[in-house]
Amino acid sequence: MASLNVSLDERSYPIHIDSGLLSDSNLLSQYIRGKRVCIISNDVVAPLYLATIKTSLCQFEVDEIILEDGEASKNLTNFEKVMAHMLEKGHGRDSTIVALGGGVTGDLSGFAAACYQRGIDFIQIPTTLLSQVDSSVGGKTAVNHPLGKNMIGAFYQPKAVFIDLDTLITLPAREFAAGMAEVIKYGVLADREFFDWLLTNKQAIKDKDTAVLAKMIEHCCAIKADIVAKDEKESGVRAHLNLGHTFGHAIEAELGYGAWLHGEAVATGMVMASQLACDLGLVDETAVTLVTQLIEEFELPVLAPASMSVEDFVRHMRRDKKNLNGNIRLILPVKIGQCDIFDDVTQTQLAQVITSLTETQPAK
Ligand code: NAD
Ligand code: GLY
Repeated sequence: MASLNVSLDERSYPIHIDSGLLSDSNLLSQYIRGKRVCIISNDVVAPLYLATIKTSLCQFEVDEIILEDGEASKNLTNFEKVMAHMLEKGHGRDSTIVALGGGVTGDLSGFAAACYQRGIDFIQIPTTLLSQVDSSVGGKTAVNHPLGKNMIGAFYQPKAVFIDLDTLITLPAREFAAGMAEVIKYGVLADREFFDWLLTNKQAIKDKDTAVLAKMIEHCCAIKADIVAKDEKESGVRAHLNLGHTFGHAIEAELGYGAWLHGEAVATGMVMASQLACDLGLVDETAVTLVTQLIEEFELPVLAPASMSVEDFVRHMRRDKKNLNGNIRLILPVKIGQCDIFDDVTQTQLAQVITSLTETQPAK
């Protein structure tokens, strides 16, 4: 088993990565202080993995809340439902919430844990690649509001993260590819050697070779843990994790959340960020080609949909949480393996890159 630590003083916690962790009763139990557990999952993941977890936690009094699948369920109504359920069942401050599922489940469960009786313990058991390499680590928790995604939330760290590689076997191919966009992001923003390793190991990754996946996920978690330890609340370097996200969020918001998966939008956003960096003379054309090739290897989109105009992009990009003083803030690579924050990209430069990387014909 690989284990690493997110170092945040008294809020530090381990990330354990291995096959078969859902059945590791001894390990899971170590992170539960009281007698009661409330597992939060959804109606896709629960039929697959809830029984295994319940067996592993049989020494505790286990309660469960199964929400409907999908991004739309990450809302205040379900948050309230969780609060009501926990109050009705008499959960106290010594209960532990266990989030079993992808980023949607983890984000909502973490926010519920942050708020219930002013904060109770929670454990992340991420079951999508995206949640294993990104959302389960770092303590960003949230629900969506009709006026904006992730607009209501808290920084609240889990007590432990358990990444069971076996859960990736049941993950749909499109969801696996979306997770690969976040994996590639780490290479582009922080680690050239890892980027090259991904190119070399692309077939083993596609074949879901367990040893290769373990190494890949551990490496992503290590990069994220390092960044979070330096800047937990995103006042500086943590913003680098948003590489590709400003363009990507515009695609997601314009098309309606769920039309493109988050990772798909981030993939196109990363190509746009790389091309813009090239237009600005920060990286050469070879870097753009390499990033584009790796993204295409995983059948992720590299062009924005034809239905989107420059104005559509800019309208959404202007609302980004990262912006300062009305300027659109972008994270751009300065080489493969390093990025920086830019606040002074002109409208003309933005328009040029968006136009050059938008499909000219509607996708068939
Ligand atoms: P998701 O939670 O919706 O999961 C994707 C789909 O896969 C869902 O249908 C889910 O039920 C299904 N699924 C999950 N695990 C499965 C498995 N093992 N086998 C079969 N099906 C499985 O989406 P996601 O991509 O995991 O997460 C996206 C969410 O994460 C978004 O809400 C986004 O805002 C959030 N996010 C948060 C952070 C953060 O730092 N907190 C970072 C990135 C993304
Ligand atoms: N997913 C970006 C972050 O955790 O900061």
